[in-house]
Amino acid sequence: MRLIIVSNRVAVPDEGKRAAPGGLAVAVKAALKNRAGVWFGWSGDIADAPTVEPRFIERNRLTYAVVDLSRADFEEYYEGLANRVLWPILHYRVDLQEYSRADQSGYMRVNRRFADSLDLFIEDDDVIWVHDYHLMPLARELRARGRLNPIGFFLHIPCAPPDILQTLPHHEDILGSLVYYDLVGFQTENDRDNFAHYLTSRGAKAGRGSSYWIDGRQTRLGAFPVGIETAAYARLARNAARSPFVRQIAESLAGRRLVLGVDRLDYSKGILHRINAFDRFLELYPEWRSRVTFLQITPKSRAEIKEYAAIENEVTTLVGKINGRYGEASWTPIRYVNRSYSRTALAGIYRTADVALVTPLRDGMNLVAKEYIAAQDSDRPGVLVLSQFAGAAAELGGALVVNPHETEAVAAALNRALEMPLAERRERHAPMFEHLLAYDVEHWAESFLSSLRDARQKPGLVEGLRSMFGVSAA
Ligand code: F6P
Repeated sequence: MRLIIVSNRVAVPDEGKRAAPGGLAVAVKAALKNRAGVWFGWSGDIADAPTVEPRFIERNRLTYAVVDLSRADFEEYYEGLANRVLWPILHYRVDLQEYSRADQSGYMRVNRRFADSLDLFIEDDDVIWVHDYHLMPLARELRARGRLNPIGFFLHIPCAPPDILQTLPHHEDILGSLVYYDLVGFQTENDRDNFAHYLTSRGAKAGRGSSYWIDGRQTRLGAFPVGIETAAYARLARNAARSPFVRQIAESLAGRRLVLGVDRLDYSKGILHRINAFDRFLELYPEWRSRVTFLQITPKSRAEIKEYAAIENEVTTLVGKINGRYGEASWTPIRYVNRSYSRTALAGIYRTADVALVTPLRDGMNLVAKEYIAAQDSDRPGVLVLSQFAGAAAELGGALVVNPHETEAVAAALNRALEMPLAERRERHAPMFEHLLAYDVEHWAESFLSSLRDARQKPGLVEGLRSMFGVSAA
């Protein structure tokens, strides 16, 4: 039995191209580490003609299987339906969705092609685990090809309530197709409940053990908050903090306190709100001027999409204004960096930072919050300021939890974090670190996969239920 992981982007290491960013890559890689399996998805390359037959690549004891997309696939499936429609809707930003039928057909076409590619190499006893919003209809396509394997789906990003989901044109065809999975996993109970309400609003009947029956199919829903490799990450941070690179950063602070933000450049991350809050902090607590440096590390993301280009300009302008207003010849309040750093370098920076500002407007989980906690020196830990709208807030009760829309409250939390006595910092940090050790990424993968085994539909059951509810075949 192999575990076949499927995601849009596959993080094949050392190929000299852009590393897959974001929490998904980190989690999937960690989950595959202890299991025999294959990670299948898009190579990151755009070819004249898309490929169906995957290229298999062996690296560091993992097998990757990748296919190329065409330019039209990239524009319609990835930039179009996935990132101009599903991404904003699932992040509660209905106002930003830009639906087109061409994008929907591109999305369906790539899902069909991914199913064709998988059909070439999956075996009957493989377990298939599909990740994220790019690939919602994939199980339906695999079932249409006669595949009876256990198939699970995990949504890494938030799930909005039904009223919002229903703004998606043809939502039944896209979100509704999730019922072809044996198990659909979400980051939080809130996300799971939102999807359960969506299904019941469409006539699904709740069964036992979080299962739902609709259109003659049964699916099970669950909350599986994604974790990190806590123990390994803590070790990495300890060593990285001693590296010349991190020491240089520490020296460059010249004794100032370090406040850190790390996010892809994405409107859901609340970067503008955060910078405004830092501005207000400098205004309301002038005693901190020239004693604090705010380092915002923000790799560019999905730059061809207009909302992403717009936010880039807005952030740059705002940072310039604040630096101009408060800066001195010897002090720049905000260091804004548009590049990504290696995992090791980041771990060292996390350990050096006195405060992490993790204040997304909406986020599935946010692994920066978890990595920041894991990276701390438990004798002298820093303080996490965390948005109530990040999935991580449901687990990290020791953080200073804020509403990112409340500028003064974020400014006050930052002041409180910087003034917090060591004893309180330790009291807050220790239980969060213990929690992350117990609920690490291995626990996440194991609990999802064992629920998938339990949820497995028995062949024949579907027919029985069709007749029970008098529903015709889907
Ligand atoms: O976590 C959500 C997600 O879309 C992942 O699927 C992806 O790895 C990450 O964000 C980065 O996004 P992209 O692949 O669009 O650059």
